[in-house]
Amino acid sequence: MFSLLVLLLSLMLSNNVVVYGNLINHNVNQLGSINGCDLFKGRWVYDDDASDYPLYDSSVCPFIEKQFDCLKNGRPDRDYLKYKWQPSECNLPRFNATEFQNKLKGKQMMFVGDSISLNQWQSLTCMLHAADPQAKYISKRIGPTSIFTFPKYNTSYLMHRNAFLVDIIMENNETRVLKLNSLSSADEWKKMDVLIFDSWHWWLHTGRKQPWDLVQDGKSTYKDAPRLTLYEKALNTWAKWVDSEVDTTKTKIFFQGVSPDHDNLVSLGGSNTCVGITQPLNNTEGVHEEELVLEKVLKGMNKQVYLLNITKLSQYRADGHPSVFGHGGHRDLDCTHWCLAGVVDTWNLLLTALLG
Ligand SMILES: *[C@@H]1O[C@H](CO)[C@@H](O)[C@H](O)[C@H]1NC(C)=O
Ligand SMILES: *[C@@H]1O[C@H](CO)[C@@H](O)[C@H](O)[C@H]1NC(C)=O
Ligand SMILES: *[C@@H]1O[C@H](CO)[C@@H](O)[C@H](O)[C@H]1NC(C)=O
Ligand SMILES: *[C@@H]1O[C@H](CO)[C@@H](O)[C@H](O)[C@H]1NC(C)=O
Ligand SMILES: *[C@@H]1O[C@H](CO)[C@@H](O)[C@H](O)[C@H]1NC(C)=O
Repeated sequence: MFSLLVLLLSLMLSNNVVVYGNLINHNVNQLGSINGCDLFKGRWVYDDDASDYPLYDSSVCPFIEKQFDCLKNGRPDRDYLKYKWQPSECNLPRFNATEFQNKLKGKQMMFVGDSISLNQWQSLTCMLHAADPQAKYISKRIGPTSIFTFPKYNTSYLMHRNAFLVDIIMENNETRVLKLNSLSSADEWKKMDVLIFDSWHWWLHTGRKQPWDLVQDGKSTYKDAPRLTLYEKALNTWAKWVDSEVDTTKTKIFFQGVSPDHDNLVSLGGSNTCVGITQPLNNTEGVHEEELVLEKVLKGMNKQVYLLNITKLSQYRADGHPSVFGHGGHRDLDCTHWCLAGVVDTWNLLLTALLG
């Protein structure tokens, strides 16, 4: 029982995550639009005002992970830092870190998910730190949770590594059981004021990268099933928990849409990875099934949950990945995560706008 999934952690630190991303969705149940303007519909425009973008200088973010620190890793081009998301019918409000911190005063915001959640959490903490570099911050880690606090503002931004949301538990004799009906971390989540969930990429892993041996689904136990089916069942467990246990007038809930990767890109015509791409794409691919599954589950919920509909806008940004400037060059190509500063900062601008 206690031998819970600590083993998962090390696995999740690996970066070779496969994402078949695609669009769909902003406000599943309400919101997503501000005064009738759909923030997720728009285009990327080059903003050459030096004071606008990037939103921070990654070299002044001392806690940034190497894998996201593309400039330091030698990325030579910089246009990717200068694109601003322009909604079709309104402007995305500028980020004001002081206002953000004041809004969160005395509160706790937690990201729950895989390394794409980590990417967004780091973006947000860099944005906040860069705006007030003198403000002390405390960063610590307790088990699977990283806790970043700014005592000056009394705000906490947490990152809980949890790729499946549901549990993986070690049972008799080294059998790792994926429990589709169990959310042992939920009590910890419930204490938060804002939660941003994410799950998908790890559902695709098979073989050595699959961190479980058996699936337990209600009273039955089996070896495997189509991954979309498992994903939907797990999301339903999560949705049922939100609907029955979470007071969403106190805890605001977001779900991060599927983050698209750029491997095997038909739209790149010929070049099938993100290597060497320095400008946003003009076209995106279509909708993928996992996004539809997520949308379906969210739409079936009673409580108010916001979908951060970042899929399509990120699909344009094949230029935004670390490529060979993440972990270790061509042998560890990364067309999945996002350079910081970069695309994910925009996700946080959208999150800020939806927080109200
Ligand atoms: C998500 O945003 C895209 C781009 O605007 C849009 O086409 C799609 O319909 C949105 N999804 C939902 C569920 O609103
Ligand atoms: C940010 O918001 C604060 C408080 O509303 C305001 O005093 C400050 O001028 C704003 N900063 C910028 C750069 O707009
Ligand atoms: C800071 O926020 C916490 C809640 O996260 C609250 O319990 C505490 O009293 C606050 N401290 C101050 C000094 O406001
Ligand atoms: C656990 O597995 C090992 C090797 O597969 C076997 O030798 C041992 O008897 C098993 N122990 C139990 C308690 O099932
Ligand atoms: C997108 O279109 C613009 C304007 O037509 C062009 O300059 C640019 O090269 C195109 N981008 C790509 C990646 O094809």
